[in-house]
Amino acid sequence: MIEYNHKGMTIASLHDERTGSFQYVVVDEATKVAAIIDPVLDFDPRAGATATDNADLILEYVRAKRLTVEWVLDTHSHADHFSAAPYLAEKTGGKTAIGAKVIEVQKLWQDIYCLPDLPVDGSQWDRLFADGEQFRIGSLDAHVMLSPGHTLASITYVVGDASFVHDTLMVPDSGTSRADFPGGDAHALWRSIRAILDLSPETATYVGHDYGKDGREVVGRSTVADQRRDNIHVRDGIDEAEFVATREKRDASLPLPDLMLAALQVNIRGGRLPDAEACGTAFLKVPLNRFGPAAE
Ligand SMILES: [Fe+2]
Repeated sequence: MIEYNHKGMTIASLHDERTGSFQYVVVDEATKVAAIIDPVLDFDPRAGATATDNADLILEYVRAKRLTVEWVLDTHSHADHFSAAPYLAEKTGGKTAIGAKVIEVQKLWQDIYCLPDLPVDGSQWDRLFADGEQFRIGSLDAHVMLSPGHTLASITYVVGDASFVHDTLMVPDSGTSRADFPGGDAHALWRSIRAILDLSPETATYVGHDYGKDGREVVGRSTVADQRRDNIHVRDGIDEAEFVATREKRDASLPLPDLMLAALQVNIRGGRLPDAEACGTAFLKVPLNRFGPAAE
């Protein structure tokens, strides 16, 4: 865990090497109340096996610091990892939450996976956040910005002078995240990013992924000022048309994430695995020839 100190708040960051994902714990120092953001449930696709190594490291931190976990938050339905939200909610008593538009994501993927019995009402989470909604983490004020583009339901959590911008922005030398998944939209992503960049310049931006570009150390924290000055895709001076052209060209060159078809069917269930079948084993589904053509 790497800790960042803010006024009255500590933000602990844990990077999962396997998926390049950042997981965060936001701690209100006055009350020792915490929120966990975007925790990873490990998945080994070769073995079809899940594990809780990342989530257990978060639990260790929570126990060592004697924190009360009030929230287990996701920013969106991830395409590259399974959410550990239900596991951590059960272990800590924290409430799970995600953006309210997740219902539309559930409907989209319910069709793709052909899951007619899946409840598509967001009932898998304790709370669904609307755009602009406010909540508290202990004594800290937090609010939600709807940030569609990477997915149609993505949200940014703003807590004090920190923002959790998930897969809208990456750190400045890595630009932005793709906008070509079902429900993605590069124009919407541009508008969401500009709204984040309108936060005050000293606001920290904690991103969802980093892959250590060109061998540098992984880094998840930057600031609005850094992003506006240096972000290779959206720095000041770049306009919407240029961004969209860059984003769409890059997206056309990217293969689908290794775990997308495995992860979405878990994450639209709030991070729960499918029910076991009659033989006692649970199975994932792969929609065939829906995301073709096959890569060479
Ligand atoms: Fe994502």
